[in-house]
Amino acid sequence: MNHFLAPEAKKRLQKYLNGEQKRGFDCLYKRLGGRGEVLRMLHDDGSSTIVKVWHCKNLYEQIKNALRMSNGRREWDMHCQLYAHKVPVPVPLCFENLPVSHGGSCEVMVMEDLGETKPVGHYLNFLRLKKKDDVIASVEDELLDITENIVGLGFVDIDNHLRNFLVASTGRLVRIDFEVACRPLLQLVSKKKYAQMMARLIESHVYAMQPEADRTIIFAKKLYHRFHMDNNLKATISALVNQRLSKHSASENILCSIKLPV
Ligand SMILES: Nc1ncnc2c1ncn2[C@@H]1O[C@H](COP(=O)(O)OP(=O)(O)OP(=O)(O)O)[C@@H](O)[C@H]1O
Ligand SMILES: [Mg+2]
Repeated sequence: MNHFLAPEAKKRLQKYLNGEQKRGFDCLYKRLGGRGEVLRMLHDDGSSTIVKVWHCKNLYEQIKNALRMSNGRREWDMHCQLYAHKVPVPVPLCFENLPVSHGGSCEVMVMEDLGETKPVGHYLNFLRLKKKDDVIASVEDELLDITENIVGLGFVDIDNHLRNFLVASTGRLVRIDFEVACRPLLQLVSKKKYAQMMARLIESHVYAMQPEADRTIIFAKKLYHRFHMDNNLKATISALVNQRLSKHSASENILCSIKLPV
């Protein structure tokens, strides 16, 4: 795996981050709280790569960065490990820490560009409207396969929700965004995060499939079966899902609760 940007590309990226030249970049996504952005970097040969940026603005972030404990570094490490174990993720290309002229530095992770993508939640909703139940079932199986793959490697990731599964232009399903993924050593931490991970997946399925909550109940049953969940765990997950759903007001037009099987 190449851990270094080609000098020309690095220079261009540096200029972009310094605000000196934006040409050759498309901003795909601005991350919440000014944390950074996701860029498409266009190259002379017509190819492109994706650059995920973390702005290290304050002293705390600079220290985490220096200690190699930053969110960017964690995402890079997790992403590379999962890639090495054949979890379907964009090909990781390199990670760099670049100083910027206005102070501080930026961490950048460069990876394969998946092209035009859609979040799998939108795709499931589209399939729901078209009543394509067979395709829904196979997409759900694929979601569970990827989740099982991640968990089987000893990772837990509370961001394992449908917005972080993309359908690539080729139709393949890919997981992205491992900023909060980890491999906990303590069983207690692992158990808690595992329940949160599964709850996030079910909760995001509710949003994708609403108002047809029955579909989520079927998905939850498949998930419980796949992961051999006992009644305690099912009850914990159900409580977590409902806790999060209840935070949304009725005016947002989102289901505020769901009766999951326990
Ligand atoms: N490799 C890629 N190829 C194509 N598009 C990508 C790629 N990686 C990310 N994107 C696009 O960028 C979006 C945001 O990426 P990502 O999920 O990594 O950001 P984020 O950390 O979740 O940001 P926030 O925490 O603010 O939601 C994705 O939903 C997708 O549209
Ligand atoms: Mg994300």
